[in-house]
Order: sequence, then C-alpha cells, then structure tokens
Amino acid sequence: MIRKLPLGVEPPLELLLLADPSENKIKDYLNQGTCFVFIKEKETLGAYVLAPVDKNIVEIMNVAVEESEQGKGIGKLLILDAIERAKQAGYKRIEIGTGNSSIGQLALYQKCGFRLTSIEKDYFTKNYSEPIIENGIRCVDRINLSIDLKS
Ligand code: COA
Repeated sequence: MIRKLPLGVEPPLELLLLADPSENKIKDYLNQGTCFVFIKEKETLGAYVLAPVDKNIVEIMNVAVEESEQGKGIGKLLILDAIERAKQAGYKRIEIGTGNSSIGQLALYQKCGFRLTSIEKDYFTKNYSEPIIENGIRCVDRINLSIDLKS
C-alpha cells in the first residue's frame, strides 16, 4: 500500500539517503513537498517525495526502495503512483532528474513514460562535494525527464 506519510511520523531518512547522499537537500525538499511511503506488513519498504515546482509542474525529488526489496517492482509502483497523484492534483507536467551514470533509473523512468528533456552539465560536480560513481561511470551531469500530463 502506498500512502501519504501521516502527520507527526518521521520521514524514512535512511531510505531517502539511498537516492540522495545529501541529508540537507533531503530535509529541504521534505519541507517543500510531500513524502509517500510503500508499506507492507507495517514495514516501510519504499518512499518518494513529490514537490511542486510551480502551479503547473510537480517534481519527484527522491524515490527509493530498501536494498533487499529492489528489483521486485516496488520502484515502478512508486513512480506510477506519483504520476497518478500528479494527474489527480491537476498538474500539467511531472518532472524527475537523475545522474548520467544512473542507467537503471533512466530505464525505469522511461518505462514509466518519462521522456528526456534536458541536460544540466556538471550539476553533480557543482552541487555535491564527494565524487559519485555508479556502474563504473562518474556522475557529473543531471538528465531531466518529464511527462506532459494533459495533451
Ligand atoms: N537496466 C534496464 N532496466 C532496469 C534496470 C537496468 N539497469 N534497473 C531497473 N530496470 C527496470 C526493471 O527491469 C523494471 O522494468 P520492468 O517493469 O519492465 O521489469 C523497472 O526498471 C522497474 O524496476 P523495479 O523493480 O520497480 O525497481 P526497484 O524497486 O528496484 O526501484 C529504484 C528502483 C531506483 C527506486 C531502486 O533501485 C533504488 O531505491 N535505488 C537506490 C536509490 C536511487 O538510486 N533512487 C533514484 C535516485 S535518481
């Protein structure tokens, strides 16, 4: 079951840190957005944060699944849930960004309907103090993807 994090319940920081090494950035977007959690047998196995960019655009700021539960379809459920909630809330566009080295994430987002929109060169070198390496690739550029929700 995916539901909005109830009021007064601490966000699953350990989980969100899997997707973003910066605790400060996570705290910033938790303040601006809403955290949704995937719960099974009282365990929080996945989470995402949806935050408005403006009145027409909403962004998935973070999506993460417990390491032991990855590859079982939970990530896809979370992304599809975010798209549905964005539609229901009347947003015209949903966005997500990831690193050039995040091959699996790029596959997942495109499987959920996202299209590539732009590249922010050197985003990760400018915004993160520690080097990030995934799949043997240095993460330097941010790839932005989006879905137009009303055509
Ligand atoms: N190449 C091709 N396809 C891939 C892939 C890869 N390397 N990795 C995942 N996929 C595909 C799967 O095959 C699946 O497609 P299918 O539905 O057609 O079978 C789809 O992506 C969804 O996989 P799913 O099992 O739902 O993903 P998940 O539950 O493991 O969640 C993440 C995906 C990214 C949320 C999860 O791996 C995670 O938490 N990673 C660490 C945090 C992170 O990097 N978050 C994103 C920040 S940008």
